[in-house]
Amino acid sequence: MDVLIRKNYDEISRTAANIIAEQISMNSKCILGLATGSTPIGTYKELIRQHKEENLDFSKVTSFNLDEYLGISIDLDKPYNEDQSYARYMWEELFKHINIKKGNYYVPDGLTEDPLKHCEWYEAQIKKAGGIDIQLLGIGGDGHVGFNEPGTSFNSKTHITALTKQTLDDNYELFYKKSGIPREKMPHFAITIGIGTILDSRHALLIASGKRKADIVAEAIEGPLTSQITSTSLQLHPKVTIVLDEDAASSLKRIKHYKHVENLKKKFSL
Ligand code: F6R
Repeated sequence: MDVLIRKNYDEISRTAANIIAEQISMNSKCILGLATGSTPIGTYKELIRQHKEENLDFSKVTSFNLDEYLGISIDLDKPYNEDQSYARYMWEELFKHINIKKGNYYVPDGLTEDPLKHCEWYEAQIKKAGGIDIQLLGIGGDGHVGFNEPGTSFNSKTHITALTKQTLDDNYELFYKKSGIPREKMPHFAITIGIGTILDSRHALLIASGKRKADIVAEAIEGPLTSQITSTSLQLHPKVTIVLDEDAASSLKRIKHYKHVENLKKKFSL
C-alpha cells in the first residue's frame, strides 16, 4: 500500500489525476473505475484540463462507475435536470467535457426494472471489458468504498445495498439539501459494485480530504481487517495507492514511514 500525503485538496486532485492520466497514456484502451461524491471533483477538473490543454485522449477509454441510487437516473443526452443521480453527476463533472465515446461509459441503471438482473449484467460487462485497470475510490464517513456499507462481504460482487443512516445524512448534506429535495424523498437503496469487484481491479486509488475523514482513514489503513469498515478490505489488494491531504492523514500513526517510502521510491524510480 502506498500512502501519499499532500498539502491540500488541490494537490491530492493533481496527484490522483496524474496517476489516472499516466494509466491512459500507457494504455489508451484502459478501463477506468470511477467514483462520485465531493472528493473526486478536483481530480475530474484536472483530467478535463489535461484533456483540453495537453490532449489527454479518452476516445478509446471505457469507464464503469461504482454505484448509483436506486430509483433515479437520467438520460445522459439530455441537459442537466434537478435529479441527484450519479449518472447526471458524471455527465456534468466529467463526461460532457471530454472525448469519451457514447457507449463507452457505464453507470448502474438506477431505474432498472429488474435490479438483481441488472447487477449481474453490470458485473458481466466489467468482466467482458477485461476488468478494471484503475479504480478511483472515495471513502464514506462509515468507512464504505463504493456503497459497500458495514457488514458487506469482502467477496461481494455488484449488488443492491441499503444505505446507512450516516451515508444518507452525509449525502443529504452534500448533495440533496441544495436541490431542495426533502430528506425523506432521498433514495434509501443503491446498486454498487462489490468489495470483490474492487479487489479484482488491477490498481485501487483512494483519495480523501479533510479532518472529518481522518479517523476513518486511519482505521482503513492501519486498523484491523473488518467487514464493518469495508475500506479495510483494501489491505488485501495487491496494488493500492492512497492519496491524502494533511488533514485526512492527521490520525495516521506511521506518517513518517509513508513519507520515507515515497521518497525512497522516487529516488530509485520504483
Ligand atoms: C461514490 C461512492 C462513495 C463516496 C464516499 C465519499 O461513488 O461510491 O463511496 O466515494 O461516500 O464521498 P465524498 O467524496 O462525498 O466524501
